[in-house]
This record gives sequence, C-alpha cells and structure tokens, in this order.
Amino acid sequence: MIIILQPCNNGHAVSKHPSIIQGGMGVGISSWRLARAVSQLGQLGVVSGTALDQILARRLQDGDPGGHMRRGLDRFPFSRMAERIWERYYIPGGKPESQPYHSLPKHAKDSPRELIELCVVANFVEVILAREGHENPVGINYLEKIQIPHLPSIYGAMLAGVEYVLMGAGIPLKIPGVLDRLARHEPATYALHVIDAQEGDDTTITFVPRDFIGRDLPPLLRPHFLAIIASNTLAVTLQKKANGRVDGFVVEGPTAGGHNAPPRGKLQLNEAGEPIYGERDRVDLGKMRELGLPFWLAGGYGSAEKLREALAAGAAGVQVGTAFAFCAESSLRDDYKQALLKKAIAGQASVFTDPLASPTGFPFKAAQLEGTLSECEDYLARPRVCDAGYLREAYRTAAGTIDYRCAAEPVTVYVSKEGKAENTVGRKCLCNALLANIGHPQARGGKYAEKGLVTSGDDLSGIPSFLPANQSAYTAADVTAKLLNG
Ligand SMILES: Cc1cc2nc3c(=O)[nH]c(=O)nc-3n(C[C@H](O)[C@H](O)[C@H](O)COP(=O)(O)O)c2cc1C
Repeated sequence: MIIILQPCNNGHAVSKHPSIIQGGMGVGISSWRLARAVSQLGQLGVVSGTALDQILARRLQDGDPGGHMRRGLDRFPFSRMAERIWERYYIPGGKPESQPYHSLPKHAKDSPRELIELCVVANFVEVILAREGHENPVGINYLEKIQIPHLPSIYGAMLAGVEYVLMGAGIPLKIPGVLDRLARHEPATYALHVIDAQEGDDTTITFVPRDFIGRDLPPLLRPHFLAIIASNTLAVTLQKKANGRVDGFVVEGPTAGGHNAPPRGKLQLNEAGEPIYGERDRVDLGKMRELGLPFWLAGGYGSAEKLREALAAGAAGVQVGTAFAFCAESSLRDDYKQALLKKAIAGQASVFTDPLASPTGFPFKAAQLEGTLSECEDYLARPRVCDAGYLREAYRTAAGTIDYRCAAEPVTVYVSKEGKAENTVGRKCLCNALLANIGHPQARGGKYAEKGLVTSGDDLSGIPSFLPANQSAYTAADVTAKLLNG
C-alpha cells in the first residue's frame, strides 16, 4: 500500500495559477481521464465531484473496465474501507445490460456509514487517478446546492492531494473553514439548508475524520478555494464573510454550459422560452480587479481571442467547459459526442436554456439531441422515478422532522411532501439523465433504460474549430493548443 498524504503547506505548494482551467463538468463528464490530460498539459484539470459515489459503484458493477478503479482503490490509505466497497459493488465481467444497478441509500442528514465511506473513497479515487503520471495540480468541482455529501467528499479529495476546490451553484461561505479544519483532520460541520426550519432545529451535518481513519495522520494540503460567481456582490460577500481564505473567483456568464445563475429581477422569457439576461447580470470587471484576488472568466471564453481579452481585462485566465466536453478524453458517451459534433459541423447544433428542467430551479442548458430528454416525447415517455436523490431539497415537516423532496419525483409523492404541484411542471430527473450521459443508465425492469440529457454552453456550434484537418475527433491537447496559440 502506498500512502500519498501530502505535507502541510503553510503558504502554497502552487505558486503560479494556470491560465486555463478546464471547468468541472458533472456528472462525470470531466472524469479523472480528462482532468489528467489537461493537467499533464500544464493547465488545470478539474474533476467533477458530483455523484462520485454513484459513479464509482456503477463503474465497479460494470466490471471496472481497464482496472482503473482497482488501481485507485489500491492507493487508498485505509485498505479495509476500500475493500468493503470492492466486495459490495464489483461484478467480474460487469452486470448484464438489462439488470439494474444497485440502488444506493439516498443522501440524508444522517447518511449511513456505507454511503459516507463511499463518498470518501470515490472522491479519493477520482483525484488520485487524475494526478497519476505528472506533478501538476488537479482540482475538484462541487455544486454548493448538493450539500449533504460535501464533508466526506472534500475530505476524500484532500486525502488524495487535491490542490484546488471550486464551487458554484450557491453561496459557499462556510467551505473555506471546512478546508482548514479537514486539512488538520479536525471534525467539520456544515449547515444544511432546510426549508421552513425553525430556530432551535438541528440542521447541522458533522463529519469526524477520526471516525473513518482511526489513527493520527500528518496534516493535509489545504487546497486553494475558488468560488464560481455571477455577480460582484457575491464576490464581495464571499471575500468579506467567508469563514476562511477564498483564493479567487471564476466569473461565469449565462452562456456557459451546465446550470446558470438565474437573471436578476423578475424572470422574463424570450420567444423561445429562455430566460432573458440584461445589464444587471453583467459583472463589473473593474470591481473584480479591485478585490485583489485572481479571477478567471467563463462562459464563451474557449478561444485564443477570448483568452487574450480576459488577460487584458486583468483576469488570471479563463475557465472553459464546452470545448473540453466534446474532446476525446471527456467521458460523455461516444454516440452523443459524435452526434453533437456532426450537428455542429453541419451548422445544426442548438442549445436551449431551459428555465424549468432542473429541480434546483436554476436555468439549465440542454443541447437538442434526438433520443435524449431534450425531446418532448422522450421526456413524457419517461416514468417519473427518484432513486438517486442528489437534487432533493430538505424541508421541515409538520411534525418538526426533516424530510426530502425533489420536484422531478412523481407528482403525487412530491405533493404529499407539502410540495406545490406547479413546481413539478417541466422538471427533469437530472440525476438519472446525467448518469446515462456517461454510459451508466439505470435499467428499469428490462422495459426502460434511462436516457441522457446533454448539457452544453452556447459555444457548441464552435467546437468543429478544434478538429485537426481531416479528423473527426479532437483531444484536450488540441483545445489547449488552440486557446494558447490560436
Ligand atoms: C457538460 C458540462 C457540464 C458542466 N457541469 C458543471 C458542474 O457540474 N459544475 C460547475 O460548476 N460547472 C459546470 N459546468 C460549467 C463549466 O465548468 C464551465 O464553467 C463552463 O462550461 C464554461 O463555459 P463554456 O461552456 O462556454 O466553456 C458544466 C459545463 C458543461 C459544458
């Protein structure tokens, strides 16, 4: 067994920030493979930290092709924990396609130990594999909204020596302090947002590293913390009020892939039904410079001109997602990748900013693709099921307990949990769709296999520019070369 714990850094192991951040892309699109390729090229590769517990469990049930998970598990410093996971999920040769994956327990304030261990180990494995074969930094991305798995997930990533933690989709005021405590293996807490919580309710999640590692360890590297923001106010709030050091910002505009921050003010839609963004949504880069922290620009910055423009505006660089999502090393399944590349080449790619699809209530961008949930008939044909539950919201029941609901679950169930029926309209099960995007669709009684829903930035139409002459695919190296050299 190799123990790869990092020495404590009283400053930082990383002195110069990269000019290109490959944005974290969930679920599993920016897996260890893509992040490793980008970091090997000297830029910042970022793995998605979302739902890694599900992903590890499903990769093992698929027979661990290539033996990569086994290799990662072998490097986990507490072998009994890693072995428990192997024994529980690994299926030699992989499960038959029509057989469903094991259902994992859903995350809850008091999740079972099995699930917490899976989070620690899965985040470790993803980061350790992304760090293989080079000495450059690797980052991990989380969505603040998916709060319950944060503590064990971050700890697992830190055990593997992650050097950047990036977080968006919320206000991560308490994450910097979590990083400080976990670096010292101290117990950490995180306040769960519970709708209708009352004073005196216990909404705190606690993670005690010693309960899992069982012995003293040297301090870990405290990663840089970059908050992903879409407004100056949020940047100032984070800098002033966070419970620890914020090291920089990613300023993400509404053309970026994935979830977008909603427009400020009353929601207005254009003729196609997409949110309209205006002057108030523009981030003032002068004010960003005044904060004195490095920042990266994201959302349509995947070209040499835009990188130059960002640097000229005082940014440390750019964060790019869409261009990397369709490169050879991304884990988007091949048929979807090829089909969307073809559409882009033919000038027929289109992306819809859907104000309803995501149970989070944030606008979510979907590439229009036949056979996926972007299509009305495919969406309507899907039986509503909620069995992964990452986007469930916690709420206080009439009895004063905490329960969970998701606006994409069966309507009657949602309404029985005091949810409003109108909130369920147009909601899509992103958990299942995004797992299907990376080739792990849940099979339902041999009758139905979950379909994907591909997210992409508005730049989808521009991805053919990364194709080398006479090629039908491009690599992460093609993207970085084009960004750096034009
Ligand atoms: C497929 C895909 C998935 C994404 N998933 C996430 C995510 O899980 N978390 C996140 O913070 N950003 C996510 N993003 C946003 C990217 O990290 C990045 O900020 C954005 O793509 C940059 O804009 P661009 O798409 O115009 O390059 C995603 C983007 C794409 C294309």
